[in-house]
Amino acid sequence: MRKTLAEIKAMKAQGKKISMLTAYDASMSRMLSSCDVDVLLVGDSLGMVMLGYDSTVPVTMDEMLHHAKAVRRGAPEAFILGDMPFGAYHTGRSDAIANGVRFLKEGGCDGVKLEGGVEMCGVVRAMVDVGVPVMGHIGLTPQTASQLGGYKVQGKGLDDARKLLVEARALEEAGAFGLLIECIPDKLAQVITETINIPTVGIGAGIHCDGQVLVTHDLLGMFDKFTPKFVKKYADLSLGIKQGVQQFASEVKEGSYPAIEHSFTSEVDYRDLLNE
Ligand code: KIV
Repeated sequence: MRKTLAEIKAMKAQGKKISMLTAYDASMSRMLSSCDVDVLLVGDSLGMVMLGYDSTVPVTMDEMLHHAKAVRRGAPEAFILGDMPFGAYHTGRSDAIANGVRFLKEGGCDGVKLEGGVEMCGVVRAMVDVGVPVMGHIGLTPQTASQLGGYKVQGKGLDDARKLLVEARALEEAGAFGLLIECIPDKLAQVITETINIPTVGIGAGIHCDGQVLVTHDLLGMFDKFTPKFVKKYADLSLGIKQGVQQFASEVKEGSYPAIEHSFTSEVDYRDLLNE
């Protein structure tokens, strides 16, 4: 049965940790939803992982929807969030609402996530007011990473930490149902988690968050361009994939694949066709 928004929110008070993973296609979302994963995120990280861009900035709404639809087809029972790409909520509240609604109506998502703090609260409020559930995202926000000095830990000093706490409170006040916090010190994540009433889901934010999210391709060892410190590799599929593919290529070249058990056979002598 698909989890409801109320059930996801209630997990904080119940002390149940939220597990969240990225999904970009139907076969992966089918596998993830058969495991104990509470939320699938169609993250704009698909720009790098699936589309080969250097950052999340070029990703478009149409690309996000293409993947969101596939994720929903693979996992009809999953709670799915669509990640609002850069530009989809920066040009005014009505554009943000329209794109949020597209994620729900066309992408089959249950809600959306968007990056930003106090400056995004008006947008969040407007979306929530028309019925688009929104998860906030603060700390390291990859869409604006260049303004933050790159992919760096945020909120280390007291002033920056205070700003993040203010942002967390403001997003809760604006109606966000949850908050993703990325790359901040674990004790700051603890203070934020204990201060707000909505669940925090951390990535590189330590153990004290109400839940954890990772990019699935990172935890499975399928994206080897770089591995952030906070990633734990639970498998090395990249190695397995390369070994399997190399064996296929070698067997094709040496003529040992396909074997008789991989072939369709018949009693008919088709060479008779050559004499017709
Ligand atoms: O797009 C993404 O994968 C994210 C991560 C922070 C999980 O937003």
